[in-house]
Amino acid sequence: MPEPADPGTGVPLCASSDLAEGGRAVLFDVLEHGQPLRAFVLRVDGQLVAYLNRCAHVPVEMDWQEGEFLDGDRRYIVCSIHGATYEPSDGYCIAGPCGGARLKAVRVAERDGQVSWYPSADIRPAFGAASTPSSP
Ligand code: FES
Repeated sequence: MPEPADPGTGVPLCASSDLAEGGRAVLFDVLEHGQPLRAFVLRVDGQLVAYLNRCAHVPVEMDWQEGEFLDGDRRYIVCSIHGATYEPSDGYCIAGPCGGARLKAVRVAERDGQVSWYPSADIRPAFGAASTPSSP
C-alpha cells in the first residue's frame, strides 16, 4: 500500500468523488527515470491505491478499456493481456504469469475532497520534464 504522504507537496490529481469504490481508475502521466508512462489511481476497499500502468509480466499497459483495471468482482487488479492478477492493497501478483512480482506503487493521498499524488526520486510529474535540446 502506498505510504501516507505530506499533503502539502502533492500534485493535484482529481476530486475524491471521481474515484468510486471499485470503479474506474483515473489515469495520469508521469516520468519514471525520465521515460514517459502512465499511472493510475483506484479506490478499493475504501483505500486509494496507485501504481504505474505497467504489468510485471511484460511492460505493457494493463487496462482492458481506459481506466478499467478491476476484475468482474471489483476485487483484484487484472492485466488484460494475459490475466496477471494483483492484490490492490500492495500490488503483489497473486496469480497468472507475473511470477510473484509486484506493480510499482505511486504515493497518493486525499484531503478535503482532493486527491493528490506524490513524486519520488524516480517517478516525476510529466509536465515538469525538461526538453532535451538536440545537438547541432
Ligand atoms: S502482459 Fe500482463 S499478464 Fe502478460
